[in-house]
Amino acid sequence: MAQEENEPPVGLLAEEEIAAFIQHAGELEHPREMIIDLLRAIQNNRGWVPDAGVELTAAILGLTALEVEEVATFYDKIYRRPVGRYPIHICDSICCWSRGGEEIANHLLQKLGIEMGQTSSDGLFTLLPSCCLGGCGRAPGLMIGRQFHGQLTIERVDELIEQLRQEDCA
Ligand code: FES
Repeated sequence: MAQEENEPPVGLLAEEEIAAFIQHAGELEHPREMIIDLLRAIQNNRGWVPDAGVELTAAILGLTALEVEEVATFYDKIYRRPVGRYPIHICDSICCWSRGGEEIANHLLQKLGIEMGQTSSDGLFTLLPSCCLGGCGRAPGLMIGRQFHGQLTIERVDELIEQLRQEDCA
């Protein structure tokens, strides 16, 4: 059956989620405060935020797609293109680099056989550079999804990758 014109594209948000967001937005003086919440919800369902997700967010909050896009592209943990199941944000700020971050990053690039910004051929890992992740006291660090891992060594990185590969097979 053809999709109705006003029906949201499949897999972005469930009808109940949309209704809840519309109700919440109606209670706020500045609904744009909810942009990130909405984009995160779409990303949780879809893995990333396609153009239709930006448009849906704009429609729910009564904003333009450009207003939503400005926020979406500002936050590096909102993905505007497909990523692997486990996006890995490698800190490229000063504390991490001064404590071996470059070695960790190069090891991961080599281990996964990709360049920064690319996704491994098994579709599991995308490597992304990030500004300080807020864990300087535990540098060098990285984030996998929303989990920070610090005091990294090459061995610890190998363990993390292996764990995630096994979780994927489980
Ligand atoms: S510089 Fe890497 S977590 Fe702050």
